[in-house]
Parts: sequence; C-alpha cells; structure tokens
Amino acid sequence: MSLYLSLKQAKSEEDVKDIYIKALGLKGYTKGLVDIRTDEIWFEAKDTGKHSSYAMFTQLLHYVQDGLNKGETIPPFLAVIDTEKAALMKTSDVMPFLAKKTIKWGKSASQYPKEALDEVSTHIGTHFVSFKISTHEDEFISTVKAAIKSGDIIRTQITPDNLKQVFDKWVTMIGREINGVTDDDYALLFFADIMHDGKTKTHENLPAALLHQDNAPVFSLAGKLYELGNKEGYRQFWAIYHKPPKAEYRNYLLERRDSLIPLDERSFKGAYYTPLAVVDKAYNKLTETLGKNWQKNYIVWDMCCGVGNLEVKHSNPRNIYMSTLDQADVDVMKATKTCVAAQRFQYDYLNDDITDDGKIDYNLTNKVPEGLRKAIAEGKKILVLINPPYAEATNFENIATGLNAENKSGVAKTNFSITAMADYGKASNELFTQQQFRAF
Ligand SMILES: C[S@@+](CC[C@H](N)C(=O)[O-])C[C@H]1O[C@@H](n2cnc3c(N)ncnc32)[C@H](O)[C@@H]1O
Repeated sequence: MSLYLSLKQAKSEEDVKDIYIKALGLKGYTKGLVDIRTDEIWFEAKDTGKHSSYAMFTQLLHYVQDGLNKGETIPPFLAVIDTEKAALMKTSDVMPFLAKKTIKWGKSASQYPKEALDEVSTHIGTHFVSFKISTHEDEFISTVKAAIKSGDIIRTQITPDNLKQVFDKWVTMIGREINGVTDDDYALLFFADIMHDGKTKTHENLPAALLHQDNAPVFSLAGKLYELGNKEGYRQFWAIYHKPPKAEYRNYLLERRDSLIPLDERSFKGAYYTPLAVVDKAYNKLTETLGKNWQKNYIVWDMCCGVGNLEVKHSNPRNIYMSTLDQADVDVMKATKTCVAAQRFQYDYLNDDITDDGKIDYNLTNKVPEGLRKAIAEGKKILVLINPPYAEATNFENIATGLNAENKSGVAKTNFSITAMADYGKASNELFTQQQFRAF
C-alpha cells in the first residue's frame, strides 16, 4: 500500500511514526522525546495535517538546541512528518542560527512562544524542502534515502521515465499559476522552465523562454510576457526537482513534446512520436524495396514530420524536406539541431495551397521551398516518407475523449477533403487517408 493510503488509516501518532519508519526503511532508530531518532535524521511527527511545517520544525529545533547544550551528537538532517506532508532540512543550515542562542524557548518543546515560531520561520523559510505526500511520496522517500546515503539533499532528476509525471505536477504547482496562458501552452512553458538552470538556458531559440525580472521567474511566449500569480509553488517544485535534466536526456525530452500535448488536441492532430525502432524497420524495408542507394537517389519529403524522428537516420539530409503543422515542432527541431542541413518548415499539408477547385497552387502561401517546387515540377524522383497523423471525425474514441462536434467535423473539413475528395465517401473523414490522397 502506498505511504499516503497507509497514512489515511493511521489512528495515532505512533501509527504515523511506524508508517514512515517502514516506508523509509529506517534502521537503528529509537523513539522518545525526539519522535524518531536515527544517526542521520531526527524526526518530529504529528498525527494530523493541521500543524505547519514551521511549527513542527520549531519543536524539533528546541530538542536540537537542548542536545547542543548537552554536547550530544546532532544528526546531519532534520525532518518533520505528518499525515499529509513532510519536509527535510540540512542541520548545518540552522547551526549558525542556533549558535547565536537568541531564541527564548518555551517550558517544553510543544509550548513554544509565538516569538520563537516567528524567529525560526524567518530563518528556515528557504532552507527546507517540503513534499505533499498525496502527490510527491516517491520523491520524498527517494530524497530521504539518498540523503542518508550521500549526506546531502539531492533533488530528483527529470528523466524520460518520469517526464509525464513531472510535467503533470509542474502544471499543478506552476503552470496553473501563470496568468493568462491556456492548457495548450503548458508543454512549451514547461520545457522553457526545465531547460534553464536559473542563469543559463540549455538551448537557443526554444518556442518559449524563461526570463527573470526582479528576481522572479517570468515566461515569454510568442512575444508576450507571463508572470506567476503565486511564487510559492515554483519555489517548492524546484526544491524537489533538479534542473536542467542531464545533458544526455535533453534533446530526447524535448522531442517527446507529443506526450505532453493535452489528449484531445493530440488525438485531433494525430500527434504521436515515431519510436526509433519503427524508424529502423522502415529504413530496412526501404533499402529492401528501393535499393541501397535510395537515400542518394530520392528527394525525401516528410510533410507531417513532427519533431523529425523519421529522418534522423537519413545519411543525406541535403536531400530532405521536412514540414509539419505546428511551428513549435519546427522550433524544437531547430533547437535540438535535428537534421540541420535539411529544409525544415511549417506547412499545413491539408489546408495550405489548395485552390477552391481542389488543385494545388504553391504560390498561394509560398511556404514550400523553391528547390522542392522545382523538383516536383520537373518530375524528379520524390519519396514521400511519412508517419501520417491518425484522427477520424466520427470514431468512438474521439467522442469518448471529449472532442466537441465542431472539432470532430474539423478533422473531416480540411480544405483538401472539401475540395478534392468528393468521390471518396467516408474515407475522406480520416486524416491519414486525406494525407495519402494528397500525397498522390
Ligand atoms: C504520427 S505523427 C508523426 C511523428 C513524426 N514522424 C515524429 O517523429 O515526430 C503525425 C504528425 O503530423 C502532424 N500533422 C497533423 N496534421 C497535419 C497537417 N495537416 N499538415 C502537416 N502536419 C500535420 C502532427 O502534428 C504530427 O506531428
């Protein structure tokens, strides 16, 4: 059972202590005035969630002060735990403050005067890392275990395995506090935030950017600045996680933008990343079918390239044209330096350059590069290499994921399907068939 569910069943402070001892795998502990005492951490425990972390730390620091006065060995970490939350702090961060001995403690640890609480709160405010157990129990447990092992508070790394989880928590604690943005913007703002160590960004030209004004984080997106309403969630979130992610994960994480796009928008656009194993398979099949020189002999156009995975294995990027619906995906490819020598551009293949009578006129938008237009006009060998978007106007899944009627009909109603697919019946409802017929 999870730590949180076990805590919901706790009937007393003893239960709370035992549940945490088990979850953290504490060894060699004693219980007494200090609720749980180990060589590495002293814990103050409560059997409800109604005491603030500041109040609990004030009680714990009373015992630390007592211990110091008696010449006892003080552990490197201090923690407070209850049924809803937990917090951890390095003892070294409070030692100089306790050494000043300015606090007037109460008769017992629990009878602290308000002045003691105020003074402790002011001092420890920026030093402890707090965890809401309902959402961050794994992070709390791993942080405590790593602290015991390493002697330091180590923030949780953002990796491909926890990307979605971290993103969801980021939305709750930070995204919803950014004034004036929509759900669709969260993924871009999240990447701007995580790919920045507070001083420097890891990538140039990401679609959104993190800036700082008057020491507060500010986001910039599409030429506008967005401030945080409440900054406490921001402080707490980044006390738990480490940023930026390790260098080896950064590009991969950016390329997984599709997994963070809200589900309804994602199924509407058919935005699904192409796994590299599938790309390998496709390239083997192409070599089998077109011969081993196909990458030299054919011009490739992927007109729904997303973040470009289907082309990363291609050894001749000068022969490649890559276009896709979302400018943000093009920006991600540029920031991650994916297929640098290829021509990468935003293009809505089913709506751009379609005339009223269903013909194609590249002069309407002038988005398609000259070289590609010339190759098409001259009848050069062009290989349409795509993993098409899958989205159907009238399928059940779309209805179940809450697409409204306008959106659903939006799938069928591309310029291309309206003007050029009158004879295709129900097949014109599907994005991938539209894509196929447009490619012919
Ligand atoms: C199945 S994904 C392909 C993923 C891509 N191969 C990759 O590795 O990221 C389909 C892509 O087509 C894009 N798309 C959807 N409708 C499009 C349209 N009308 N024109 C161009 N691209 C479109 C989606 O945004 C999505 O990125």
